[in-house]
Amino acid sequence: MGDEFHVVLNDVWKVYRTGKVEWPALRGVNLVIKRNTFTAVVGPSGSGKTTLLNIIGGLDKPTRGSVVVDGIDITRLNGRKLAEYRNKYVGFVFQLYNLLSYLTVFENVELPLAIKGINFRERRELVLKALDVFGLRDLSSKRPLELSGGEQQRVAIARALVNMPNLILADEPTGNLDSKNAQVVVETFRKLVDEHGKTVVMVTHNVELTKYVDVVIKMKDGNVVEVINQ
Ligand SMILES: Nc1ncnc2c1ncn2[C@@H]1O[C@H](COP(=O)(O)OP(=O)(O)O)[C@@H](O)[C@H]1O
Ligand SMILES: [Mg+2]
Repeated sequence: MGDEFHVVLNDVWKVYRTGKVEWPALRGVNLVIKRNTFTAVVGPSGSGKTTLLNIIGGLDKPTRGSVVVDGIDITRLNGRKLAEYRNKYVGFVFQLYNLLSYLTVFENVELPLAIKGINFRERRELVLKALDVFGLRDLSSKRPLELSGGEQQRVAIARALVNMPNLILADEPTGNLDSKNAQVVVETFRKLVDEHGKTVVMVTHNVELTKYVDVVIKMKDGNVVEVINQ
């Protein structure tokens, strides 16, 4: 298995159809993402960043091309297998965190595990581990409205990643944070790569944050126009 590469995209196209109009959001993307690296995806609005991330995460299927993750072409998986891939293997972090205000930090992070039917003891272990990784242990009995915006986003990230997926996909996770909190979030991703062996791909508008990453992928008009290894 091509161990060095975690994700490989071959000639990936995504054509959206609205009525009679076709819009190619991705136009033959070729890309490799190495294992255990932190990658930023940058580019103007509408350049295809979200589409790219959704396709890597199995939330959307390409119109053409292959997406190989850990040696498996996920475009060939059936619905059930694809859902399994998303649930077990991928962690999604979005800009809008929807924490439940009546649950504590601990309970919010525990929620996805409870939904999956994981038993109490295993849940507790996973939640405590995630709270430690994200520096939230002291806040575990607080409720979201008692936290700062940055803390809330860290809880949302802990919740998204509580089952410690190998591949973490974040779409503008710092979009609604001030620069200090944005930095904390990105440092957390850096730590997941350096200390926990994860692969992180983050879409961002914030050029400041690209100094934390290993690779910057620049997109324009549905294609990758530059890959900068730093
Ligand atoms: N579901 C959809 N239906 C039709 N067009 C879409 C859809 N999603 C995205 N697009 C179009 O595809 C292009 C790329 O969108 P997107 O991947 O969201 O770009 P970005 O995240 O870089 O802003 C845009 O022109 C957008 O309008
Ligand atoms: Mg987007």
